[in-house]
Amino acid sequence: MKNSATLRPRLIVAGAAKAIDYYTQVFGAEEVERHTEPSGKIAHAELVIDGARMTLKDEDVTDRAPTPAAGSSVLLMLDVEDVDGVAERMVAAGGTVVFPVADSGYGRVGRLADPFGHVWMISQRAEEQEAADLEALTDLQTPWCIHVVSTLRIADHMAGGVTAIDDLAAAAGCDADALNHVLGHLVTKGVFEEVEPGRFALNEAARQLLDSSPFLDLDGIGGRLAYAWGTLPTYVRTGGPGYQELFGRPFWEDLAAHPDIGASFDALMGPAGHGTPDPEFEITGGWDPVQTVVDVGGGTGAMLAEILRTQPAIRGTLVDLPGTVARAAETFQAAGVADRVTTLGQSFFDPLPAGADLYLLNKVLNDWPDRETSAILRRCAEAARPNGRVVIIGGVSPDDEPRRLMVEMVLVGGRSNTLAEFRELARGAGLEVDAVRRQSTGRFVVECRPS
Ligand SMILES: C[S@@+](CC[C@H](N)C(=O)[O-])C[C@H]1O[C@@H](n2cnc3c(N)ncnc32)[C@H](O)[C@@H]1O
Repeated sequence: MKNSATLRPRLIVAGAAKAIDYYTQVFGAEEVERHTEPSGKIAHAELVIDGARMTLKDEDVTDRAPTPAAGSSVLLMLDVEDVDGVAERMVAAGGTVVFPVADSGYGRVGRLADPFGHVWMISQRAEEQEAADLEALTDLQTPWCIHVVSTLRIADHMAGGVTAIDDLAAAAGCDADALNHVLGHLVTKGVFEEVEPGRFALNEAARQLLDSSPFLDLDGIGGRLAYAWGTLPTYVRTGGPGYQELFGRPFWEDLAAHPDIGASFDALMGPAGHGTPDPEFEITGGWDPVQTVVDVGGGTGAMLAEILRTQPAIRGTLVDLPGTVARAAETFQAAGVADRVTTLGQSFFDPLPAGADLYLLNKVLNDWPDRETSAILRRCAEAARPNGRVVIIGGVSPDDEPRRLMVEMVLVGGRSNTLAEFRELARGAGLEVDAVRRQSTGRFVVECRPS
């Protein structure tokens, strides 16, 4: 092959002019050439993206653009400097996430489809990440210092005007010298400012603790999550959780036995912790035919409340453990949907209310090993039979998505199944996977029908 050989992608696009605008906006492409036919169609255009050349043209009878059904048979691989920023811009301008951006052995990588059906694998090269510093990665000192100042509500005391170390220690009921060392360490990490020796102030990073301290508190759910990481060796050796060894009971029983911690877990799952959930996930045939939804393991109802708020004709049932359901009323009142909701404090391992149009399992199956996942799916299948459907978000991932460690693995032995594994599990529980979609938000939504 001659040294001068080049290989350039030539993209066939339905709407080349719009595509040029899109690539300019999201990739910073520079248009260097354009030939337009009298009909207005672009016969040839050349773009340069950070030195890389590509051409494109409008589709015609010979050259067809990718279609949503057939997809694209080519992956366009593009190295960028800020892969997260490019992915955000692609979605904001009408693209969809195929695989969200995530770290991989060869860098930070994501796969997104542009609005014209072409699929891009965008990556930030590993070299830029090889600076990862093992010493920094194994620093346990900083996370524990943050947990301790959160537990002691140091940021709140500072916001209330207490800044001298002795006064802070008195307000928090702790040792002044030890606290001084903890705050001194955090100052070196960019959290808090030491305005003069022994006098501290909030900075932008520390101000975040005003909202997040309740979820980092070592006496609350933050402590359960933090200490549970210490059981990672058990999880890795056995594949099961070591939580009970540490706290005396399995996770869900521990929350039931400590209602304050249960309440802080529910709050963490709800709008105060994870924000208001996005109810806009696509389902086959749209939401219009759906009249009744059962949110199975729906926590304190944040997702159900949003679904009912955005779909005024739907009535909903929240199923969760009694302690959690008892904390749900406020969510429904605040969303103005309380008159369309029934709440049921029961286990989802027991029979579920039958005959609803849609059973939602949002961020539930990832909390369970396969045996329990099958049992929950079986309850959904029984209740949904014959005409309902079961929609699953969380606990199922595309077959080629890289595996990731999740906190629910150490807490409860949870897992995420590949789609192929899930199809088998679902079939065994009386459900057939009917549709699978990656939403533009990155959520992977699986729809099942009773078999
Ligand atoms: C990770 S949270 C997800 C909550 C909610 N679906 C959401 O998206 O935020 C899992 C939920 O499962 C509930 N749960 C755990 N065991 C349960 C059981 N046996 N029966 C019913 N709900 C249960 C928990 O109380 C919790 O609300």
